[in-house]
Amino acid sequence: MRVVKPLTRALVVYYSKFGNTEKIAKALAVGLQSGGIDTDTAKVDEVKYDELDKIDLLCVGTPVHAWNISKPAREFLERLEDMEGLSGKKAFAFDTKFKSRLAGSAGGKIEKKLKGLGFDIAKSAVSAIVLGNEGPLEEGAEGTFRQMGEELAKMM
Ligand SMILES: Cc1cc2nc3c(=O)[nH]c(=O)nc-3n(C[C@H](O)[C@H](O)[C@H](O)COP(=O)(O)O)c2cc1C
Repeated sequence: MRVVKPLTRALVVYYSKFGNTEKIAKALAVGLQSGGIDTDTAKVDEVKYDELDKIDLLCVGTPVHAWNISKPAREFLERLEDMEGLSGKKAFAFDTKFKSRLAGSAGGKIEKKLKGLGFDIAKSAVSAIVLGNEGPLEEGAEGTFRQMGEELAKMM
């Protein structure tokens, strides 16, 4: 008997004020895609909530704003609280921030919220470093996230 493995789907949802988190989100998506996962990206205000039940992996990324998750990304996570059928799906969180002891973080906080919603964390949150408020990203950051996408794909 031939067993056909159903297509694994991922969605990378992100907020980005200056475009750096967007670059990281797209790099992650390219990695997932090349690892064989059918992957879409969506800005937080473009998410089609009625299609979330079709995905197997949700990745959520944000810049760190005031040591925390940005407001638009937080609002996206709050909308997930009203949804059913998310439990058991896999998730991965990431953020962009300064390389400083005082930078704070958002990825770990997103991860905690996703865990609370029943998601199974596929891999601990990862940060990409920006060199200034508006970027640029630290050299190699996009390559690192592309590779991370390929690794995540293997875990699915
Ligand atoms: C309102 C505001 C608050 C910020 N607060 C922090 C912060 O607490 N820690 C930090 O590391 N970076 C902070 N930053 C810098 C952002 O992390 C940086 O702008 C972001 O990573 C760039 O990503 P983006 O291009 O996707 O917006 C802040 C930026 C803004 C605009």
